[in-house]
Amino acid sequence: MKKSENFYLTTPIYYVNGKPHIGHAYTTIIGDIIARYNRLLGKDVFYLTGTDEHGQKVAQSAEKEGLTPQKFTDINSDKFKVIWDELQISNNDFIRTTDKRHHKAVLEVFKKLKEAKTLLGNDVIYKGTYEGYYCVGCESYKTETDLVDGKCPDHQTAPEKIKEENWFFRLSDYGELIKEKIINGDVTIWPESRRNEVLGLIETGLKDVAMSRNIDWGVKLPFDENQVAWVWFDALPNYISALDYPDGKNFKKYWPADIHLMAKDILKFHTVIWLGMLDALKIDWPKTIMAHGFFTVDGQKMSKTIGNVIAPEDLLKKYGSDATRFLLLSLIPFGQDGDISCEKLDERYNSELANDLGNLVSRVFNMADKYFTRHVPKYLLDKDRFLEQDLKSTWKQYKFYMNSYELNKAIGIVWDHVRQCNAYIEKQKPWELFGAGDQDNLADVIYNLLESIRHIAFMIRPFMPETSDKIINLLNITKEKKRSLKEISDWGRLIPGTKIKKPEILFPRLIKK
Ligand code: MSP
Repeated sequence: MKKSENFYLTTPIYYVNGKPHIGHAYTTIIGDIIARYNRLLGKDVFYLTGTDEHGQKVAQSAEKEGLTPQKFTDINSDKFKVIWDELQISNNDFIRTTDKRHHKAVLEVFKKLKEAKTLLGNDVIYKGTYEGYYCVGCESYKTETDLVDGKCPDHQTAPEKIKEENWFFRLSDYGELIKEKIINGDVTIWPESRRNEVLGLIETGLKDVAMSRNIDWGVKLPFDENQVAWVWFDALPNYISALDYPDGKNFKKYWPADIHLMAKDILKFHTVIWLGMLDALKIDWPKTIMAHGFFTVDGQKMSKTIGNVIAPEDLLKKYGSDATRFLLLSLIPFGQDGDISCEKLDERYNSELANDLGNLVSRVFNMADKYFTRHVPKYLLDKDRFLEQDLKSTWKQYKFYMNSYELNKAIGIVWDHVRQCNAYIEKQKPWELFGAGDQDNLADVIYNLLESIRHIAFMIRPFMPETSDKIINLLNITKEKKRSLKEISDWGRLIPGTKIKKPEILFPRLIKK
């Protein structure tokens, strides 16, 4: 058998100082759609997510709750796992930075960094003094220019002024190399606008970064027991520790990553610091670093203080898992910032899920029930090729957008076809054909519609796995799930005479209170 192509995809590992919010869910759903699509393409996919559990922010939150950091992170990390399960996230592994395997790999990373030299022949790591600001909320160092009225603009708090002896990573020696590799296309930063931002950042000159902290909750440096790794230097290697770096068979199999996925807020860490670290470690670079936009709620940044945080569990309760995935994804142009509101989510649920798709399926199955005793009719005249033609171009565009990661455009294309099917029903008026006793034309119309629904079921599969399963089950073609996307996209695979099931309501309408 032909060896399948490997595909390694990661999300950020999320801080566990609280429970997951929809920002985390958004990234993880996008990752899941990409992972599922690539599995449909026949690739051997390894999809990784996890939790980032060290650092001052987590330690402080644990203390507030009167828990040890370990207990606190155990509880909160589980909350992420539960929500990911409910959202049908198909991750292959879940890494925690408190895992033994992570600890082991990180020690190896630090040992290697300590021995390494930069391209210019300097020690990669050296001891120095850091004097400046640190925002615990961001777990990151800040310069005066990062602050607005002396406060971190993201957390509205004045960062701590610290002066401490630290180990530094000589990032300043890596700017040219990173720039060159980005320009040469050795590593792709997506979208283009973000790539330019990163190049702009490098242009202003990269400064060395303090890579250790004088706090307790973290990974102690193997060459200095008094310091722990700054949380980012502990977190970034999760992408290789989960593959059992340095000697694990998964590391050999899946590295380099095909995609590191995240939002724009942390692109900087992944492009400059992570790439610098990897070069120092003599490890290949990831192929693509992809940053989506940030979303706001009702025009405002989501924040506990404003009280507009939308929790994934609220959406799950209201819409169910598939609709939550669909709504979050399709509301915002992928890669750009966007705004969501509960009203917009409700509207879209009713119009696109309950009306467009839900109605299509229930109408067509009801007609097949009434006119053909719940069997796929025989395609007799074979002269009406409207839906078949429309599907050809739908698949072409769908694949194009999926392959270029424009996921909301891909699902938009599928919805255009769903609407074409609804318009086709209105145009063909199967009830009139039935009334006139025109069984041949009626059979063609219903066949065309059922066959289109089969295609739709597979196109939505990465986005809404449960609904896809339901439709495939209604069509009684579960064996088709094993087929490749190429086979599935052929017209006419639905076999006349197949006994189909009784229709069910896929998306009950939301009633306005
Ligand atoms: N722990 C670090 C990441 C380390 S990766 C080696 C971290 N964690 S985080 O919990 O703050 O998560 C940041 C990520 O959450 C973002 O990059 C993005 O994927 C997601 N989002 C958080 N808020 C978001 C929005 N409001 N909108 C979209 N995505 C958001 O940073």
